[in-house]
This record gives sequence, C-alpha cells and structure tokens, in this order.
Amino acid sequence: MEGAVEVVPGRTMGLLAAQQAFVEADERFVAFIGGVGSGKTVAGAIKALRYVMEYPGAVGVVGAPNKTVLRDVTERTLRTLLPKEFGIKERKSDGVIEFPNGSEIWFRSMDDFEHRRGLYFF
Ligand SMILES: Nc1ncnc2c1ncn2[C@@H]1O[C@H](COP(=O)(O)OP(=O)(O)OP(=O)(O)O)[C@@H](O)[C@H]1O
Ligand SMILES: [Mg+2]
Repeated sequence: MEGAVEVVPGRTMGLLAAQQAFVEADERFVAFIGGVGSGKTVAGAIKALRYVMEYPGAVGVVGAPNKTVLRDVTERTLRTLLPKEFGIKERKSDGVIEFPNGSEIWFRSMDDFEHRRGLYFF
C-alpha cells in the first residue's frame, strides 16, 4: 500500500500507487486500465464518492456494462466504502443514493444507450 486517501469524511483508506494516481488525478477524463483484481472498481467508487463530497448538490452517474454487474459489483463495492452511520438516503427503486450534502449518485446500466439519451449532468 502507498498513500492513504480520504474516501469520505471520517474514512481514509490505503491505496495502491496506481489507484491513488487515478483517484487524485484532476483531469476531466481519466482512465484506470489494469488486470483482473487490480483495484479498478474500488478506485472508481472512491473517485465518485470524493467527487460528490467535494461538490455539494452534484448529481453523478456511476455506470456498469449491465444491470447484473451494476448491482452485484459496482453498487455493492461503493456501498461497502461508506461508514454505517453516514446518513445516506436511499431511493432504491430509482437506483439513487442521496448524500447528506444534497449530492446524488445515480447507478445506471450502460448496455442500452437508447435509455441514456437526453441525459445531462451539471
Ligand atoms: N486499496 C485497497 N485496499 C484493500 N483492498 C483493496 C484495495 N483495492 C481493492 N481491494 C480489494 O481487492 C479486490 C479487487 O478489487 P476490485 O474489485 O476493485 O478490482 P477490479 O480491478 O475492479 O477487479 P475486476 O478486474 O475483477 O473487475 C477486492 O476484494 C477489493 O475489495
Ligand atoms: Mg471491477
């Protein structure tokens, strides 16, 4: 493990060097390409959480290739990074979690682009 980063206020985590570089990169478009089990999903989840913490009221999409991976891997990974008493609100049937600072993460499957048309985030 290399440096520790703040995942959300009250929770820090030690990351591998490649994860840390990805998480802390502030370029608009950043990719983390790595082998199976190299920590891509965890790093992506941490990046998403840090973003919504930094920008109160932000609405962000966390995507996965299909609904099964989204539910079983992507969404589950992100939830495990949150402290138990973090105070998120669930809009389960919408696939949305709301954070105490008014930010939201929308979990969306990316296998049907037609369903994503017209969707913009600010
Ligand atoms: N910084 C870390 N500290 C401790 N455990 C970690 C860390 N990063 C990832 N892990 C653990 O390592 C395992 C693999 O991580 P992750 O699922 O993010 O990898 P991945 O690259 O997305 O894998 P895949 O190629 O299968 O999608 C998981 O069990 C995860 O909890
Ligand atoms: Mg993964």
